[in-house]
Amino acid sequence: MADCDRPPTGLALGAPRCCRIHKQPLSSTPASPAGVCIAAAAAMQTSTTAITMACRLPKRAVEYTPVTRGYNSIGGNAVLLLQASIYDFPKYYDLAFGSDWKAEFDFLLACFARHARRRVRCLFEPACGTGRLLVKFAQAGYRVLGQDLNRKAVDYCNARLLRHGFRPSVEVADMADFRLTRPADAAFNMINSFRHLSSEAQAEAHLQCVAAALGPGGLYILGITLTPAGKSSCDGESWSAHRGYLAINSHVRSIAIDHRRRQERVSTTYDIYTPTRSAQIVGESLFRTYSARQFQRLLARIPALELVACYDFAYDIERPVRMDRRSEDVVCVLRRI
Ligand SMILES: C[S@@+](CC[C@H](N)C(=O)[O-])C[C@H]1O[C@@H](n2cnc3c(N)ncnc32)[C@H](O)[C@@H]1O
Repeated sequence: MADCDRPPTGLALGAPRCCRIHKQPLSSTPASPAGVCIAAAAAMQTSTTAITMACRLPKRAVEYTPVTRGYNSIGGNAVLLLQASIYDFPKYYDLAFGSDWKAEFDFLLACFARHARRRVRCLFEPACGTGRLLVKFAQAGYRVLGQDLNRKAVDYCNARLLRHGFRPSVEVADMADFRLTRPADAAFNMINSFRHLSSEAQAEAHLQCVAAALGPGGLYILGITLTPAGKSSCDGESWSAHRGYLAINSHVRSIAIDHRRRQERVSTTYDIYTPTRSAQIVGESLFRTYSARQFQRLLARIPALELVACYDFAYDIERPVRMDRRSEDVVCVLRRI
């Protein structure tokens, strides 16, 4: 878990915070353009391969984005620059995105209590990445299952589950093509992973797979950023997090939206600091766009999942919201009929 209160020893990073903030300034950290990322990535490959039989293996091949190396300048210092998929660096992803887990965790518990029509004991997370939430639920006594297309994220997640004494219950699988051997009581997908599905057919297939994976009365809690009518309130954010000697400043920015193709290009940058090394990883992802109406039309094609409530990314169970043309960040609570 990221340590939010303690500044990282030996780092000249000002006051890193774990919450998402805009334009957190970087102080100049002594840079040493060496292979910190490559070494860290290599260290992360040591993992378990024990896999459950919960999901089918993906039909399409999983390929990693090739890594391009170069140098960049941060605060006047030359740092190693890697252009790669941020998902190929689970240790950094987990630190950058893992520090925000508590609000989502509490909100999910509240959803189970308020909206499920069955006892929630078994949880499933499609596109679980590093399993930053799954491990917390395992520690809270839930049985957890997950899957992700990225082998490195899956290995990282399983290694951590094992380290904490749990079954390595996460598999490499495509969220648009999977089947669970036993129904889960609830599933969740909180921060736009769903938008990685690039076509309507894949999105629909995903929702059908989730519906089939849930027992009656079970929940699918799906967080998605919609394209609002008019101007979006935010086209980027920056925040910092640290764990021990490792500190990361993350910047996520929308580069361009093609409304006709329904594609949004999003760049993610990690500025990585340890006491002796600095590096920058820059990655780009393509997300499918949805207006509220497009999303509602899609949901209407999955009658087995009923929309029972809608919230926003404040994750306040007492403050449901209406999804309309101005909506941006929404969390839909879908219940299996
Ligand atoms: C934004 S991360 C979210 C990870 C995790 N759910 C979380 O909350 O931290 C998106 C994840 O979706 C995964 N992903 C993208 N397309 C996928 C697919 N078709 N099937 C399964 N996972 C996929 C990526 O590998 C990545 O780990």
